[in-house]
Amino acid sequence: MFMSDSRFNTQMFTSDDSFDQIYPQGMQQLSKRHWTPLQIATASAAFLAHKPGTRILDIGSGVGKFCLIGAHFHPDSYFYGIEQRKELYLYARNAKEVLKMDNADFICGNFTRFNAGQYDSFYFYNSFFEHLKPEDGIDQQIDYSPDLYDYYTCYLQDIMDQRVSGTRFVTYYSMGDEVPDSYQLVDASDDMLLKMWIKR
Ligand SMILES: C[S@@+](CC[C@H](N)C(=O)[O-])C[C@H]1O[C@@H](n2cnc3c(N)ncnc32)[C@H](O)[C@@H]1O
Repeated sequence: MFMSDSRFNTQMFTSDDSFDQIYPQGMQQLSKRHWTPLQIATASAAFLAHKPGTRILDIGSGVGKFCLIGAHFHPDSYFYGIEQRKELYLYARNAKEVLKMDNADFICGNFTRFNAGQYDSFYFYNSFFEHLKPEDGIDQQIDYSPDLYDYYTCYLQDIMDQRVSGTRFVTYYSMGDEVPDSYQLVDASDDMLLKMWIKR
């Protein structure tokens, strides 16, 4: 059973193992491959939440790990996640309630049916890759297809291209297909898995 006092909250943001305990066992087992590591979430959120009041959207938010870590360290910003799998969305909602986080929220649905215009900054952890490698997918509950990878990637590229100059975008484990030419790479991790972009 989880305590929801601030002592517990602070302690759980010190390692991936501590944080992941907020999820059921099955979700903890998926963490290494599918959910953002604590250090990556912390660095990404610091870049994306660059001024108070920033609204950040995680495209494919899974169980909400990136958003909840970002919201904890940046109480002046707002973290939103859109997730197509209802089960994962419900785990994210539950974790938000346990943590009593007012500056994180989750939406269940496909990002292509969603208006991204109201957000300032965007986070993307290679959400469409499972269409290229279904054997590494989260589950077998969606239809996998390389055509969907192409469709979603182009769709996201269009959305990002329409954002205003100065928009911040973080990609993790991405091949860069969804990043329009209008974005400039401004920082990256040594292994180049984490990339930080700003629209010109
Ligand atoms: C690699 S996980 C990342 C989860 C989360 N962003 C994190 O960093 O912990 C990618 C997630 O994107 C979701 N996803 C993939 N395509 C999507 C789409 N078209 N619309 C909404 N969610 C999508 C998947 O269901 C999966 O939960």
